[in-house]
Amino acid sequence: MRSDRNVLVLGAICGATLTLCGHGSPTAAQELAISCGAVGQELALCQEGVAAWSEQSGVPVTVVSTPNSSSERLALYQQILASGSGDIDVYQVDVIWPGILGTHFVDLGADFDEEVMSAYFPSLVQNNTVNGELKMIPWFTDVGLLYYRADLLEQYGHEPPTTWEELTAAAEEIQAAERAAGNSRMQGLVFQGNAYEGLTCNALEWVYSYGGGTIVDEAGEVTINNPEAVAALDEAAGWIGTISPQGVLAYQEEEARGVFQAGHSVFMRNWPYAWALANADDSPVKDKVGVVALPKGGADGQRTGVLGGWNLAVSKYSDMQEEAVELVAYLTSYEEQKRRAIEGAYNPTITALYEDPQVLDANPFFGELYDTFVNAVARPSSVTGTRYNQVSTEFWNAVHATLNGTVTAEQSLAQLERRLDRLARNW
Ligand code: GLC
Repeated sequence: MRSDRNVLVLGAICGATLTLCGHGSPTAAQELAISCGAVGQELALCQEGVAAWSEQSGVPVTVVSTPNSSSERLALYQQILASGSGDIDVYQVDVIWPGILGTHFVDLGADFDEEVMSAYFPSLVQNNTVNGELKMIPWFTDVGLLYYRADLLEQYGHEPPTTWEELTAAAEEIQAAERAAGNSRMQGLVFQGNAYEGLTCNALEWVYSYGGGTIVDEAGEVTINNPEAVAALDEAAGWIGTISPQGVLAYQEEEARGVFQAGHSVFMRNWPYAWALANADDSPVKDKVGVVALPKGGADGQRTGVLGGWNLAVSKYSDMQEEAVELVAYLTSYEEQKRRAIEGAYNPTITALYEDPQVLDANPFFGELYDTFVNAVARPSSVTGTRYNQVSTEFWNAVHATLNGTVTAEQSLAQLERRLDRLARNW
């Protein structure tokens, strides 16, 4: 498929050091640069989509890969954009960043008018609109899900858990039995416990599922110091070193997937992309995996997943904005989202794709869990705006300290409340 005419500079995958990219050099003046990737198949799928557009348009494109960690991506983007650099024309942007990075992106409202955008989830369009300007086009959406080993649950006579208590009990039992049977590496539950944005997502799911709110509520009030949140974090802290390995405190998405996909965990919290890889031909757990909504906490809790997802935005500092907009339109189109959904289980942001038989065939849970996708709980990024990353950093640090046993959940959340209250004066 890829052209031999060298229209696409796929070889030039740059790391964090953008000076390596070559973009901006005199000979590269006609070249677009997009930053995308890297978790799971993100980078490969982006490269393929970009290659197809490049071939069709005749515009050469450099694909710049980014770190796996959303938090590291943000730091890198902030550095580039704050310098007013036009080295990257198109950015892959997290759903929580419109308030933080929005000022650096062009208003796409004229190119993507209301009629075009009516095909997309309205909540995402709203999320991406800052002061009436459409700053980013939704590319794929995410929600936290519970993956389980269907074969093991059946063997030990368990249904997929609906409460964290049930999950903990099933994980303990199956982990112990499997270890006794010689499967010494078996774990009960893996998730994203590293101190970064992914832990904010995991911990918000625990807290919200116990009825403990969203850290900061829609009115901007800091709500995190409450008994339900304490109960949620106490429960999670109890997993470390029991049903979850100590090492989970350093896991991001791909580390958790690595353990689960190798067949070494009963349960895993992860995003939809893990489905396609877990069921790939070379996966040891192919056809052995089920996926459901995350459990609720206690009797009065609520099953939920955190809303994640990624968008495409065009830099204000790009000198190829017209071509950049065309690339964004191509990558976020129905057909390209369909390809990415079928090949990589990246959830579309165009609602009609959830009724597309080929998409549903590749990802049956897109249909079964549609309500979970639509009702995903948002992180408090809109209300905290430019301060969101500070709020999240305080939260994930407080949670991480609780999980590793440095402080109790009660102490940790009381301290967190004081810190967030100070930040709250500025949003
Ligand atoms: C996923 C989500 C993103 C989130 C990140 C945290 O990539 O789509 O919204 O911030 O995970 O690790």
